[in-house]
Amino acid sequence: MSVPNSVPNSVPAPQPLDSLFPAPAQGQHASGVHAPPPAAAVTSGPPTAGSIAAADAVGTTAVDPFLPPSPGSQPQPQAPLSSLVARDISAWFGTHQVLDRVSLEMAAGEVTALIGPSGCGKSTFLRILNRMHELVPSAGLAGEVELDGEDIYERSRKLTDARKHIGMVFQKPNPFPAMSIYDNVVAGLKLTGVKAGKETKDELVQRCLTSAGLWNEVKDRLRSPGGGLSGGQQQRLCIARSLAVRPRVLLMDEPCSALDPTSTRVIEETIKELRQEVTIVIVTHNMQQAARVSQRCAFFLASQGTPGVIVEHGDTDAMFGEPRDQRTHDYVNGRFG
Ligand SMILES: Nc1ncnc2c1ncn2[C@@H]1O[C@H](COP(=O)(O)OP(=O)(O)OP(=O)(O)O)[C@@H](O)[C@H]1O
Ligand SMILES: [Mg+2]
Repeated sequence: MSVPNSVPNSVPAPQPLDSLFPAPAQGQHASGVHAPPPAAAVTSGPPTAGSIAAADAVGTTAVDPFLPPSPGSQPQPQAPLSSLVARDISAWFGTHQVLDRVSLEMAAGEVTALIGPSGCGKSTFLRILNRMHELVPSAGLAGEVELDGEDIYERSRKLTDARKHIGMVFQKPNPFPAMSIYDNVVAGLKLTGVKAGKETKDELVQRCLTSAGLWNEVKDRLRSPGGGLSGGQQQRLCIARSLAVRPRVLLMDEPCSALDPTSTRVIEETIKELRQEVTIVIVTHNMQQAARVSQRCAFFLASQGTPGVIVEHGDTDAMFGEPRDQRTHDYVNGRFG
């Protein structure tokens, strides 16, 4: 695909409900505060090959990933695990291109780790995967993202659907601090318009807190405020909250960078367990963590003012043991970045 100029085709503006949960302020971003350039249209590449592929895939997809969850009084069967494919993703902030034709397949049931030096576009790439990039007024985008073969940027898809099916856990835990632990977990149901009775909610809260590795620590104080938990517990509460809307993919942007080693280990164990129920993409600066939790790994790099690209991706053990590219070798061995 040829890269469009910095003013790709315009698409309709995003809908008002921009995120299921509060994103951290830009000031919390590891690479610093970025004042958005003057407003321009949110842009997207022309719906070409991806849309055609998505249309082809409709008849063959067993479960429509965009169907809303329908919690009844019965426990739901485990949905098949989902895959996410990014194809030729380029991204801009104003005229500043930050990603150049990045393609990556994030396979069902695997943990994919995104690694690379600060500023190479890992968070931008992650936000493109659940349509959060377009919240920035100057943001531009080209390429395709498919969830189980369905184009998440297809015009008829609601913005909020992508967020529901592709959840996000941020660097800094962001529970609703005054809301109880219980209500934090079920908060997403209300926001996504899903009605559930008390019994269903009780089951959901227990299931999600168990999956997030927090149940035993909080089961006797579910009505206490979420803000009263430790940082590591708050992060697991946020994971539980994300799980409550049954995402098919969970994106995690440096989820342990604000945590102590013990809490980090607990989250890593949680990630290993969660792989059975949700496909995970994690950004981390911790090479040991990438090696411990992921099966696949992608190394991003933006050299000398050029947009970020993926230098190498593949099996995590191979990437760390026998990288094909010298730059990967240097990075995973701590020689630069
Ligand atoms: N809201 C924004 N407005 C303008 N430029 C931005 C914005 N967010 C990020 N950028 C720029 O996009 C580029 C990629 O940033 P991004 O945050 O994706 O990098 P990163 O790899 O996640 O870095 P880190 O490891 O420090 O978190 C950087 O040059 C950054 O300055
Ligand atoms: Mg980042």
